[in-house]
Amino acid sequence: MIKELTPGTVVLVGGGPGDPDLLTVAGLRAIGQADVILYDHLAPNDALADARPDAELIPVGKWPRGKYTPQEEISRLLVEHARAGRRVVRLKGGDNFVFGRGGEEWRACAAAGVPVEVIPGVSSAVAAPGLAGIPVTHRTVSQGFTVVSGHVPPGDPRSTIDWAALAGAHTTIVILMGVKYLPQISATLTDAGLDPATPAAVVMAACMPGSRTLRGTVADIADLAAAEGVTPPAITVIGGVAALDWAHEAPAGVST
Ligand SMILES: C[S@@+](CC[C@H](N)C(=O)[O-])C[C@H]1O[C@@H](n2cnc3c(N)ncnc32)[C@H](O)[C@@H]1O
Repeated sequence: MIKELTPGTVVLVGGGPGDPDLLTVAGLRAIGQADVILYDHLAPNDALADARPDAELIPVGKWPRGKYTPQEEISRLLVEHARAGRRVVRLKGGDNFVFGRGGEEWRACAAAGVPVEVIPGVSSAVAAPGLAGIPVTHRTVSQGFTVVSGHVPPGDPRSTIDWAALAGAHTTIVILMGVKYLPQISATLTDAGLDPATPAAVVMAACMPGSRTLRGTVADIADLAAAEGVTPPAITVIGGVAALDWAHEAPAGVST
């Protein structure tokens, strides 16, 4: 793993799901060495206290109801600072390559001849359910999981997800960015044959202030989420594992 940042290089640092304690050792070391740090609102921004006092900290990305920096501008800044010989950290929430546009940023740097290194992060896709006591796989319940984005509804021309296939896959479905379209997603899954009684859970703001977990079924989880005022960031887990809760007690009859 990277011990010393190299001037003129961009390091994509995965920040984990929000609590700075869930940032990796390598990620924290990189933050402490960087000349420039470009960070998002879902990154563990308390960890920026470990940046050098003279480091330039640049907020980019999408702040709710706030500032929005276009992706092209973020890539331009990464290249510009690296070409100036600076040690550049791109800090994101979770892992940069899980709905984090890390690939686009890597490509932009590569096209400009800027070297890129990667420090993976703990993705919220696994960490948020885990912190709520929900294992995304469990030997007797689910032999796999699929992580999908719910940022566009099923049937939308921009959606490339085969929801019917997921409905019949007998594995766990983990939905990121799916708060707004949860009603359409749940209905599409049950219309495609998923048992309406299939357990479902929504984990909101895991390891952040206001963290909550709601549990129900795929048939009622969207109504529950709406009634409870769930807002992003939140993750929905659909499948038998959503009925498990290791944070409290395993239900009777579930083999560990
Ligand atoms: C643009 S995606 C980025 C995912 C990130 N790269 C990762 O690996 O976790 C943002 C979405 O991740 C999920 N998310 C991120 N942090 C979360 C948290 N602490 N609790 C619940 N969901 C979270 C939400 O679904 C949110 O809308």
